[in-house]
Amino acid sequence: MTRQFDFNPAKVHTILNETWRHLNYAVETETHPWRLGTLATVLDNRPRVRTVVLRAVEIEQRQVICYTDQRSDKVQELEENPWMEWVAYDPVTRVQIRLRGRAEVHTQNDQAARHWEASSPEHRRGYITVSAPGTQAETASPNLPDYLFDRLPNDEEAQLGYENFAVIVCQIEHIDWLELRRNGHLAARFLWTDKWEGHWKYA
Ligand SMILES: Cc1cc2nc3c(=O)[nH]c(=O)nc-3n(C[C@H](O)[C@H](O)[C@H](O)COP(=O)(O)O)c2cc1C
Repeated sequence: MTRQFDFNPAKVHTILNETWRHLNYAVETETHPWRLGTLATVLDNRPRVRTVVLRAVEIEQRQVICYTDQRSDKVQELEENPWMEWVAYDPVTRVQIRLRGRAEVHTQNDQAARHWEASSPEHRRGYITVSAPGTQAETASPNLPDYLFDRLPNDEEAQLGYENFAVIVCQIEHIDWLELRRNGHLAARFLWTDKWEGHWKYA
């Protein structure tokens, strides 16, 4: 694989540009490991983490976006405490990024509708579940209505999922970058005030 993380060591900001470029590329590229992130939230002063799919990036607004079921625990956690971190690692470039900021959850609004319109029937099926995610189950069974067990929903059925669909928009104000190198790792951090400030740091 030829994926590369290109930057100029004399210009720390080139790392920031390349980080956003890779994030954007990961949205489009199923095989890019940054397409899967680990999203951390806080519940009662304790961390909660889970894997999520990076669905969109808004570079100008410093946003990374994933989708979820609005009944899931993470939505309630973010409503109580919007602080989040998102971490991803690419074993090809050997670059880890850790993104910190605050998240907003969008349901049944323009933002949610725009993302829902762009989603596939297969993706929409995941939101037509019978019980709220996390509910205790009596048996091992997929949480789908019987009629969707072996087929995708038609447009009308898919619309039922929209009620449960939530867009988590994470606005990033701190980025930790780490590149693993055999002869000594490199690290940098970027902090948003009214613009991005970047510094090298020791790994
Ligand atoms: C590869 C992978 C991708 C996932 N992507 C998502 C996702 O994009 N959104 C989501 O809500 N859950 C996703 N999940 C499930 C979550 O990791 C988690 O189990 C679920 O959302 C419940 O989390 P919560 O109880 O903390 O809300 C994914 C799981 C895996 C293994």
